[in-house]
Amino acid sequence: MTIIVTGGAGFIGSNFVFHMLKKYPDYRIICLDCLTYAGNLSTLKSVMDNPNFRFVKASITDREAVNKLFEEEHPDMVVNFAAESHVDRSIENPSVFLETNILGTQVMMDACRKYGIKRYHQVSTDEVYGDLPLDRPDLFFTEETPIHTSSPYSASKASADLLVMAYHRTFGLPVTISRCSNNYGPYHFPEKLIPLMIANALNDKPLPVYGKGENVRDWLYVEDHCKAIDLIIHKGREGEVYNIGGHNEMKNIDIVKIIVKELGKSEDLITYVADRKGHDMRYAIDPTKIHNELGWLPETKFADGIKKTIQWYLDNKEWWEEIISGEYQNYYEKMYGNRG
Ligand code: NAD
Ligand code: DAU
Repeated sequence: MTIIVTGGAGFIGSNFVFHMLKKYPDYRIICLDCLTYAGNLSTLKSVMDNPNFRFVKASITDREAVNKLFEEEHPDMVVNFAAESHVDRSIENPSVFLETNILGTQVMMDACRKYGIKRYHQVSTDEVYGDLPLDRPDLFFTEETPIHTSSPYSASKASADLLVMAYHRTFGLPVTISRCSNNYGPYHFPEKLIPLMIANALNDKPLPVYGKGENVRDWLYVEDHCKAIDLIIHKGREGEVYNIGGHNEMKNIDIVKIIVKELGKSEDLITYVADRKGHDMRYAIDPTKIHNELGWLPETKFADGIKKTIQWYLDNKEWWEEIISGEYQNYYEKMYGNRG
């Protein structure tokens, strides 16, 4: 089995590469990644010498490079993680989100049509469902919840999902889609809530909480997401969408307080800043379908996962210190400098 994993130098993609190489020693895993600011080759250093692994630096929007790779590798499957993934950046500059997330998906699927494929899997997000109100804890996103997006990021992901389903219906492409809630764990880029708060707290810098910090996210340990995708690509039904989430809803402010406490820092570091534009209030996944059909259940409890994650950031300072000492500083100044 040969699998192209796009975006494998990013957060979830790299964790998926590790999971697959470990679980299926006879599979060939090809990582296709153009190494944007979010992609990091050092993340993959432990697998670079693995004879079953190959790294290819190219964009999923580059039709020629993608076709060449298909001709060389004859993949059985594609798992498409590659995307611009940060909501705040999509508010600053939507264009690249449309190019990568929508047109890149088209290029990958066109190659799958041209050369043949057993499965094309699209890694999507719960953000395509929009948000839920805080005063209706009985409501959850199911696979039937209408698409209703808020940010340019979520609109680009939803557009890609529609395209994936269109390629299934029109061309018979054997596709699946997964829509997961917020992930956390090792190699999470420090622009996102949990790693940003860990890095800032360790540097005794202010912890910028948007609005009142009451927004709710449904957190899942990244390995549990990877295991769910593994099940879907092997056993999921073609043409189906699977929601992934572990019923672990938490307010942002509570997450930040846990991190502060775990690191022995003061809550005085917490600083309330201007809210994100169009900020989604609450995400909450109903994972009944993937549980009933594929037997998936999350294995890592949040209390354990967050401890493991914090420990990983303590043990791997060089990984994130290198990131935040570079171009990231300009990004941070632009996004947080005058946020007040
Ligand atoms: P990330 O930003 O950490 O990594 C994205 C990776 O894609 C990087 O390695 C980057 O270099 C690569 N990439 C970007 N543009 C590319 C292009 N044009 N060609 C090739 N490679 C390109 O993202 P992540 O958090 O790991 O998310 C991965 C996927 O999972 C995304 O599709 C995202 O929408 C989805 N998702 C993320 C979460 C989450 O909580 N992080 C939850 C649900 C779904
Ligand atoms: O739900 C899945 C999505 O989760 C994925 O599709 C996205 O790719 C991923 O980035 C994530 O999106 P969020 O916008 O939920 O994640 P983020 O870490 O950016 O923010 C989480 C919450 O924390 C959100 O309510 C905004 C808030 N926040 C974030 C940052 C970076 C802050 O209060 N302060 C911050 O500095």
